[in-house]
Amino acid sequence: MSVIDTPAVARDLARLDALITEQEQVMLARTSRSQALRAEAGTVLAGGVSSSWQDAPPCAVWIAEGRGSKVWDADGNEYSDFHGGFGVGVAGHAHPAIVAAVTEQVRRGTHFAQPVEDSIVVARELARRFGLPLWRYNNSGTESTMDAFHLMRIATRRPKVLKVEGSYHGHHDSAQVSTYPDAEAAGSALAPHSVRYNAGIPEAFAELTVIVPFGDLEAVERALTTHAGQVAGMIIEPIMMNIGLIPAPAGYLQALKDLLHAHGAYLAFDEVKTGFGVAAGGATEIFGVQPDLVCVAKAMAGGLPCGAIGGVPEVMNLITDRVYEQVGTFNGNPLTMAAARATLTEVLTDDAYRHLDVLRERQVAGCQRVLAEHGLPGYVQAMGAKGAVIFTDHLNNYRDFLDYDDQWGNAHWLFQQNGGVALPPWGKCEQWTMSVQHEADDVDRFVTNFETMAQALRA
Ligand SMILES: Cc1ncc(COP(=O)(O)O)c(C=O)c1O
Repeated sequence: MSVIDTPAVARDLARLDALITEQEQVMLARTSRSQALRAEAGTVLAGGVSSSWQDAPPCAVWIAEGRGSKVWDADGNEYSDFHGGFGVGVAGHAHPAIVAAVTEQVRRGTHFAQPVEDSIVVARELARRFGLPLWRYNNSGTESTMDAFHLMRIATRRPKVLKVEGSYHGHHDSAQVSTYPDAEAAGSALAPHSVRYNAGIPEAFAELTVIVPFGDLEAVERALTTHAGQVAGMIIEPIMMNIGLIPAPAGYLQALKDLLHAHGAYLAFDEVKTGFGVAAGGATEIFGVQPDLVCVAKAMAGGLPCGAIGGVPEVMNLITDRVYEQVGTFNGNPLTMAAARATLTEVLTDDAYRHLDVLRERQVAGCQRVLAEHGLPGYVQAMGAKGAVIFTDHLNNYRDFLDYDDQWGNAHWLFQQNGGVALPPWGKCEQWTMSVQHEADDVDRFVTNFETMAQALRA
């Protein structure tokens, strides 16, 4: 019997329901201004927010200000920020080096749609960190992975791309397949169906995105055989980060690269969350496996919208040779380039990553102690600035994720919010992001809130 089936856990789930209701009331009582803003926004913004995932029950929290490791909401509540704007916030808020760089650039013009010198400095730094020589900018993670799909298809003249079940790679048509399929639609675990994730995706796109389970080399081999001669490549998060936090099994990524190459296909790492988040050179550095393409975004420009794709010459020269017109009005925008230069050369330094290591160890130890002392199911998984409490005994792929109850993550999110720690909503999917401006008191606040939840569960 697995931990998740035990009578103790069934009892916990009933208790969690009651705690969620209670904590939602606490949150509503703290956020009257947010609720008023949300009501006002609903008259002009569809759904009352700017992106649908900014809204989670019982209410969207409107943010007024961020400084250092803290944010303040519209009601004046202070939070240690572990939400990190869905993984962007590794530099923290209003870091002096980024403020100085952006302020100086604002005075000298914010947009030219012509190249600027900072774009060379940033590309050189990306090349150093990820070991890939040629780069191009865009404005988001979605654009980065879209470029990867396009480049792999052009380089091979093949239409299909392999994607992992349960991975999120942004909101373009080819990527929005089997992001969070329900169990019935998902089909067999060994050869999952390609399930359209969002309304508005034509079925033809789903047919071109072939779904495989995470960490299963034989499944990739079967897919390459079934779709022989049609697969351009595979996109993968080396550490899955939209169903908790799941590192690839040992040896898997190198074997995957070899297998794909043997079939004339490419390997693209989606490092939109992991890049800069788990190490200076992302998962590419941690695993020591060099993919053909790397997609980055989120943390690279200290909070300004920016993305990039890097790759091996045989693929990136499709851009050089103008076979692929990689374009965008705001690509390499001077403001984002100034912010990225400061972020990568002055803020996310080796010392900063050492500081994150110390904080992470404190946070992991604190959370593990709470799990053990209170007999809660689960474990802690953390790398670099990122981490999550995973409230089940095993989480290795999307099918495990389907089995694990989201009340735990929801309750944890509410206890953290109400205790002055911002975390991303959808606690079962998301993870914390620390910044280089966090200190031990931020970590201790997080652990205290976690203990409050554990005590409430046992009361
Ligand atoms: C792994 C991954 N790839 C791509 C994206 C899309 O990035 P963006 O929201 O900047 O388009 C995300 C966003 O959360 C992500 O987590």
